[in-house]
Amino acid sequence: MRGATPVRDALDGAMTAIGAAGCETPRLDAEVLFAHVLGVSRERLLTDRDLAIAGPDVRAVQNAVRRRAVEREPVAYITGSRGFRRLELAVDPRALIPRPETELLVELAVAKLPRGARVLDVGTGSGAVALALADERPDLLVSGSDVSEGALELARANGDRLGLRVVWLWADLLAGVPDTFEAIVSNPPYVAESERGGLAPEILRHEPAGALFAGPDGLNVIRPLVAQAGARASVCLLAVEIGAGQAVAVAELVRGAGFESVRAERDLAGIERVVVGQRGGIDARGSQAGESEVGEPGESRDRR
Ligand SMILES: C[S@@+](CC[C@H](N)C(=O)[O-])C[C@H]1O[C@@H](n2cnc3c(N)ncnc32)[C@H](O)[C@@H]1O
Repeated sequence: MRGATPVRDALDGAMTAIGAAGCETPRLDAEVLFAHVLGVSRERLLTDRDLAIAGPDVRAVQNAVRRRAVEREPVAYITGSRGFRRLELAVDPRALIPRPETELLVELAVAKLPRGARVLDVGTGSGAVALALADERPDLLVSGSDVSEGALELARANGDRLGLRVVWLWADLLAGVPDTFEAIVSNPPYVAESERGGLAPEILRHEPAGALFAGPDGLNVIRPLVAQAGARASVCLLAVEIGAGQAVAVAELVRGAGFESVRAERDLAGIERVVVGQRGGIDARGSQAGESEVGEPGESRDRR
């Protein structure tokens, strides 16, 4: 093709630019961006020796690489999508990009919730947790709430596109939320203000601050959420994602709010990532791999 650049040459240039900007995974980033612009799989990008870039694709690739390298935009905001559990979700700066570790929250809820339970995902963002639950457990009655109108619009659009049934609610934590839920799951903001300086530019510049930060110790949202959930007699299961080193403090809050069995579940990196409290109607299951009692003798004090 006249004026066309072989993809591998263009990829090399893009990788160099992205790497020089300080991004951690320049090869992967460049491949994903090229595959997105050209509308081909990453596999084809690497195996089709005849693949070339020409015409408007040249400008589109240059623009995507500039956004990644110069603006430090996350790849998912540039491509507009991110995989989570079995779903491909639309993502944009109105909501946090769903993280792989949050899949643990879904995994636990899928395993622990009884048939037909009414479950609320507080701080639903893109709708990731609520939609994955509706997808994997169609028997559940799933709602998702957020205090951000923009996030709720995105979540609703994801639900409509995926054809998944979730009730969306605007609410500041549980204020004004109907008193009908047996389970609350949440990945709330939990980054301490003091950790702001240590965050990557991708996060700090582009993801919504209201989805990240929660006061001096990172617990300014978790504290009222746990107290409000505990005060509702209908809530038999509370599962909250936490940051590294927060398990002991959050388990104490959950126990103090009236939940009997309180456990911390570790993510694939071995970090205590979700605190689960159960009481009453939902049976407390026995320990599974990765679970540990927190705040009891012999508790983990892992503060990675
Ligand atoms: C860490 S993000 C999680 C988003 C999504 N659940 C996920 O896991 O990708 C936290 C979300 O909580 C929402 N949020 C923050 N404060 C809130 C509050 N007081 N009430 C309800 N939602 C809140 C934010 O707008 C944001 O969408």
